[in-house]
Amino acid sequence: MMTLSEAARANDGYELWLPPANDPAANLDIATLGTGATLDIAAGELHRDLATAPLPILLATNLRPELAALKLPGAALGREGYVVRRATVAGRAVILVSGNTETGVLYGAFALIRAARTGADLTTIALQSAPKVAVRVLDHWDNLDGSVERGYAGASLWNWWELPDYKDPRYTDYARADASLGINGVVLNNVNAKPDSLTPRYIAKAAALADVFRPWGIKVYLSARFSAPIELGGLKTADPLDPAVAAWWKAKADEIYRAIPDFGGFLVKANSEGQPGPRDYHRSHAEGANMLAAALKPHGGIVMWRAFVYAESDPDDRAKQAYTEFHPLDGKFADNVLVQVKNGAIDFQPREPFHPLFGAMPRTPIMLELQITKEYLGFATHLAYLGPLFSEVLEADTYARGKGSTVAKVIDGTLDHHALSGMAGVANIGRDRDWSGSTFNQANWYAFGRLAWDPDLSPEAIAREWAQQTFGPDPRLADIAVKMMMQSREAVVDYTGPLGLAHLMGTGHHYGPGPWIKDLARPEWNPVYYHRADASGIGFDRTRTGSNAIAQYSPEVARRLADPRTTPESELLWFHHLPWDWKMNSGETLWHALVAHYDQGVASVAAMQAEWDEARPLVDPERWQKTATFLAIQHREAQWWRDASLAYWMSLNHLPLPAGSAAPAHSLDWYEAQQFPWAPGQAR
Ligand code: GCU
Repeated sequence: MMTLSEAARANDGYELWLPPANDPAANLDIATLGTGATLDIAAGELHRDLATAPLPILLATNLRPELAALKLPGAALGREGYVVRRATVAGRAVILVSGNTETGVLYGAFALIRAARTGADLTTIALQSAPKVAVRVLDHWDNLDGSVERGYAGASLWNWWELPDYKDPRYTDYARADASLGINGVVLNNVNAKPDSLTPRYIAKAAALADVFRPWGIKVYLSARFSAPIELGGLKTADPLDPAVAAWWKAKADEIYRAIPDFGGFLVKANSEGQPGPRDYHRSHAEGANMLAAALKPHGGIVMWRAFVYAESDPDDRAKQAYTEFHPLDGKFADNVLVQVKNGAIDFQPREPFHPLFGAMPRTPIMLELQITKEYLGFATHLAYLGPLFSEVLEADTYARGKGSTVAKVIDGTLDHHALSGMAGVANIGRDRDWSGSTFNQANWYAFGRLAWDPDLSPEAIAREWAQQTFGPDPRLADIAVKMMMQSREAVVDYTGPLGLAHLMGTGHHYGPGPWIKDLARPEWNPVYYHRADASGIGFDRTRTGSNAIAQYSPEVARRLADPRTTPESELLWFHHLPWDWKMNSGETLWHALVAHYDQGVASVAAMQAEWDEARPLVDPERWQKTATFLAIQHREAQWWRDASLAYWMSLNHLPLPAGSAAPAHSLDWYEAQQFPWAPGQAR
């Protein structure tokens, strides 16, 4: 039991990285020039979150005549950028927080708070920043029944039943957290969409949320079910070239904009995993997207059209199918369509090579879709900081327009000169008190937001600023947290799928190992499809002798991937099928290297446990205990992944474990018999 003084220091994580400054007596001098809902929020945030300031703080948009003499940057800030610096206004020395719009001022206020909490000297503060990516959006895979697909942090935040009347104050706290990172859009409902979200009743509910979010600079978007004209409109078809269908969508868009004047637009999953789409009518994805885009265009809305498409009717390597489908459509999309591409060609695995569509469609704005919720990285319980995963894809060089054509430059629009650009993160947010299921999961929400604002930020720097704000200024604690975070994602790769292995998880719920699974209806649903292991070797040959998926990359990249000797070892078995006794660059065999990675993964989790033990005197007991317990779960499950995987590989290759590596705790039969029908987050 907690003692009384411990209980007083308890922290359930609700305040995220923005704990109130707890010093109402600070009596800060914070003034605004002009009025406006967003300006008022910005001032309120500074009162709430700043413990002290060396000077009065003045908030104002650049448009104010009082600031004219300062010659503040205008165009460079765009609609959302900010300047925070010392200035003399009307004879008074102040810290000025400014931008071209009130939203820019709000982002500046949060930048000032972040700076203060990460130890900056406010007397010399000089910040200037504008987002590199235009659409920075969280995709909530939330269902109308309150469940969340691949959600591990409790029920949906949106209480659809009580909306639009009751607006839970939590919606405002959610908006605060998003705005503090610069997130400016929220897709409210699951990509596996029900048509009901587009009915008048649910449009009113979305409008109520939009009203809450608006002053925080956040627009709402909806996932649209492509067949809604049939289900809601009574039409016989959803063919995008049918004028009645186009008219239905136009009327629907007009109706939505009457309720939500700044509605962001639609996100669409079409012809993928059973969802309806234009291919049902032998129309292309571009024809489908453009029809919706035309309905939104007069209102300034956009379509985010997902390229996560593969079909059971297509016998080709699943990793190739999205490129095959979308690459020929380059230049065919309307100018208010973003094609949304997952970081890798399969599905948010702990490690995937970058998706070949990045850089391959120069005449189309391509947005990046990341998964913040940890569907394949241990659900809520495993500690896996995703900053390094996100940055790995952003930094990857596509060579599409020569060296330096990074994914970051593709998706921020600079490589091919697109003004429309975007980054989406599948949210890890639910009704749990700590929002994301664990304290460290909050860092993934945080890292997504910060990287969407600036894809070039370093994941380690982001981890540090998150830790300082979340746990307080003690550098010892931040050091421990950052060390744990920076090794955590690689640990998950090591114990679930090292050396480029992927998609080895249990069926449906995706919890735990299942590399032996081979009897599911669609070939590419089976783990055996991905690892192709047998007595002689392991890995998916994606070179010319196999599926030739490497030919979808630029020649420079393809050349490197054609040869296992020049393929990064971390992606080796993604691209190559190799004998178990293949000699790695280190000289050891592939089999021994594989085992070493599994062992390393388990050892890394043990190391994180030891590090967290050292943090005990520095953290409030509530967050310390939950994290310690989750690390123990992670250690147990890492061991399970390692043991089950090795038991299976050994059943194929009949090789002994290297000396010093422990035998699996159970027989392969035991691992295969484990069932988890009630694992959370499953599709409904
Ligand atoms: C994964 C996930 C599904 C989801 C799909 C998608 O396959 O398991 O639940 O619907 O991705 O991104 O559409």
